[in-house]
Amino acid sequence: MDLFDKLENRNSPLGSFTSDGYGYYTFPKLEGPLGPDMKFNGKDVIVWSINDYLGIGANEHIKQFDVEATRKYSLSAPMGARLMTGNSDEHEALERELADFVHKPEALLLNYGYQGIMSVIHCLVDRNDFLIYDELSHACIVDGKQLAMSESFVYKHNDMEGLEKQLIRATARSKPNSSILVVTEGVFGMTGDLGKLKEIVALKEKYNFRLLVDDAHGFGTLGEDGSGAGTLLGCQDGVDIYFGTFAKAVALIGAFVATEPRVKEFLKANARSQIFAKSLPLPIVATARERIKLIRENPQWRKKLWENALKLREGLSKIGYNVLPSESPVTPVLTEGSTKLCTTIMREMREKHGVFVSGVSYPVVPKGMVLIRLIPMASHTDEHIEKTLEAFKAIKPIVHQNQNLGEKISA
Ligand SMILES: Cc1ncc(COP(=O)(O)O)c(C=O)c1O
Repeated sequence: MDLFDKLENRNSPLGSFTSDGYGYYTFPKLEGPLGPDMKFNGKDVIVWSINDYLGIGANEHIKQFDVEATRKYSLSAPMGARLMTGNSDEHEALERELADFVHKPEALLLNYGYQGIMSVIHCLVDRNDFLIYDELSHACIVDGKQLAMSESFVYKHNDMEGLEKQLIRATARSKPNSSILVVTEGVFGMTGDLGKLKEIVALKEKYNFRLLVDDAHGFGTLGEDGSGAGTLLGCQDGVDIYFGTFAKAVALIGAFVATEPRVKEFLKANARSQIFAKSLPLPIVATARERIKLIRENPQWRKKLWENALKLREGLSKIGYNVLPSESPVTPVLTEGSTKLCTTIMREMREKHGVFVSGVSYPVVPKGMVLIRLIPMASHTDEHIEKTLEAFKAIKPIVHQNQNLGEKISA
């Protein structure tokens, strides 16, 4: 059979959702300056779906800085992978600053978080090793596991007994040259709860393993100084490899891992998605440095983000919504219902109330559940929050009435 013919009939996990809902539920276009007030289909909307947690994307100083950095360096430079011709003083300075920020001796820049962490997992473990990970881990961790030569074991989300069972299993099957890597997230991006980092670190007293934490949503938003979930939970020292991305609180592209010097040396020479790929452009690296500096100098942004998150959460709960007990700014509203209810909520909010929210249903969450995920930002105002709460109040009867609607999507 022709491969392309076959693809036409091959289902994706989202079924026909990507094509039927194109431009509306999937691949929507938010236009205008980045921030809480944008345009969708030509209409003004209050946006709760972008991860610019600290509002850096709209920062005037940063916008100006980006223009000047691009003029100075060009978006092309440096050419080549870092290993070959793509290294610079800026790249190295950013690595030193990131390491200092997250309280680790060294950091290694990654071009993209997703590919970066996949490669890191892939090259850390070999066929004699064991990889143990939380069942709700982000797709990049799961893909890293697929690439890895090691045997892998999964434990139920944040279930420490389950993790311990897998540690016992891996330890029992270990050969003298076997090692164990545990991978979890600092903040679970859909539900907003934290990985049980402190409990996992405590297990190191009984079992010999190393811990890799993907803190995509915690980097810049959690901990007194913004250095993430490990700092917040008082166990950053026990996190052996800390992963952060610029795709969220830094409102940029690129990522890093922070760890011991000997591990960085190994990753520099073995992380294939970095060795064989072009290095991050110099203006991106320069603006990442400036943004990290601003994040460190402006703790009030984090404070405002948290104030907004709490106001939003309290307001939604008061109206009677089931807000999951998130421990991060991620604000997940869970309700029973079908994909049809999920799309109805998005449409009602966007069209009737000018509030842009995104939701997911099966297979991202269990069948019969709808999760509307709101991402507060430091740049949201009280007015944004009040208008959004009014809208949620207004759609409440629809949420109740439509809880049993069928699965068909109408875009
Ligand atoms: C938990 C988590 N890990 C990794 C990534 C991938 O990072 P990036 O967008 O930098 O590729 C994401 C999404 O951005 C994420 O949410």
